[in-house]
Amino acid sequence: MRFSTRMDNLAPYLFAEAERKIAEKRAAGIDVISLGIGDPDIPTPKYIVEEMQRQIADAGNHRYPSNWGHPDYAAAAASFYKRRFGVDIDPKREFMALLGAKEGLAHICFAMLDPGDLALVPDPGYPVYAGGSILAGSDVRYLPLRPETGFLPDLDAVSEEDARRAKVLFIGYPNNPTGAVVEDDFFARVVAFAKKYDIAVIHDNAYSELTYDGYVAPSFLATPGAKDVGVEFFSFSKPFNMTGWRTGFAVGNHEVLEHLWRLKTNMDSGMFDALQKTSAFILDSPWDFVHEMCGVYARRRDLLSEALTSVGMKVPKIKGTIYMWIPVPEGYTSGGFCEHVLEQAAVVITPGRGYGPAGEGFVRLSLTTPDDRIAEAVDRIERSLRI
Ligand SMILES: Cc1ncc(COP(=O)(O)O)c(C=O)c1O
Repeated sequence: MRFSTRMDNLAPYLFAEAERKIAEKRAAGIDVISLGIGDPDIPTPKYIVEEMQRQIADAGNHRYPSNWGHPDYAAAAASFYKRRFGVDIDPKREFMALLGAKEGLAHICFAMLDPGDLALVPDPGYPVYAGGSILAGSDVRYLPLRPETGFLPDLDAVSEEDARRAKVLFIGYPNNPTGAVVEDDFFARVVAFAKKYDIAVIHDNAYSELTYDGYVAPSFLATPGAKDVGVEFFSFSKPFNMTGWRTGFAVGNHEVLEHLWRLKTNMDSGMFDALQKTSAFILDSPWDFVHEMCGVYARRRDLLSEALTSVGMKVPKIKGTIYMWIPVPEGYTSGGFCEHVLEQAAVVITPGRGYGPAGEGFVRLSLTTPDDRIAEAVDRIERSLRI
C-alpha cells in the first residue's frame, strides 16, 4: 500500500509508546504506577453524569448538531467568560464548540497554515502545536521556554525574518508541561508582537481552573487588543475530570473561528447536542467540584515535592496545571532517567525531550494518580535512586 508522505515526518503521539511499555510490563505481572499521561483518576462527578443521562434521553438532541455549537452552550460559555475573566464574548460570532481542545488545536493549523509557512511553537510544548503545524505542511520554529525566564518565550529573541514569516504563535498558560503561570504583562507583549508582525495567537487555556496557593489564572483574551489577534481554547477535560467525554470550545477572533468553522464543516458534523447542553449546564452550575480538585492536586504536589526533595531533587512548587516539571538528577538524560525509573521502580514518568528539544534535562510527573499510589511511587523512586 502507498501512504501519504505527510505521515513520514509524524512520530507516533508521545504517549503511544508509553502505553505500549506499560501494557508489556503489566502483562508480565509487574505493578506499574503511571505518573505519565495527565488523565484524572477521579471519575466525572455524579451531577454531570446525571445531567448527561437526562440529555441523552431527550430525542430533541438526537439529530445533527450545528458546527458552530448549540446556542445554549454558546450563551453559557459567554457568561462564564464574563463572570470568570471579565471578557465579553459574542455567543453568535465568537464561540465554537470543539470535540475537546486537542481537536481544535490540530484543525486550526489547517485553517491557518499552508505548506512552507512558519508556526512559532513553545519548546517544550503540548505536542499537538508542532504536530498539527507539521501535518499542515508548515515549518516550525521552536521558542525555548527556560527556567530563567519563568518558562515564558523570549519574543525579543525571535529573528526579524522568522517574525515576518510566522503566521501563528502557540502559547498556553498555566503551562503544560512546565506548570508555569503568567504573573506579569507577558500577554500584553504577545499582543504587541502579534500586531506588529500580523501573527495569529492561539492561546491554549486547558488549565486556567486548576491553580493553587491563591493564584488565579487570567484569560489571554482579557488583554486589551487580544481579540484582534487571537483565539483561546477551553477544555472541560482536566477541571471536571472529563477527558473521555471530548468537550471544549474556542472563543475569540471571529475571522479565525469562521475559518475553523468552514474547515470543520468539511470534516466533522459537530458535537452531540446532549453533550453540548450538558457542557452548558456545567458552566452554569456551582464549581465546588473544581475547587475540591484543586485541593486534591495541591496535596499531591506537596507529597511528591517533599519526597523528591528529600532525595536531593530540585522540585519547583507549581501554581497551576497538574504537572511537575523537574530537572533530572546529574548524570542522566531525560530519557535515561525515565528508563531508570521504569526499570528499577516500575513507575512511568515522561521524558521532557518528548515535548521538544529544550525539554531535555527535565521530566514531567502527572498528579493524576491516587495519593497512596503517589506515595508508593515516590517510595520506589527514592529506593531506586539510592541503589
Ligand atoms: C495544554 C493542553 N491542551 C489541550 C489538551 C487537550 O485537551 P482536550 O482533552 O480538551 O482535547 C491537553 C491535554 O492534555 C493539554 O495538556
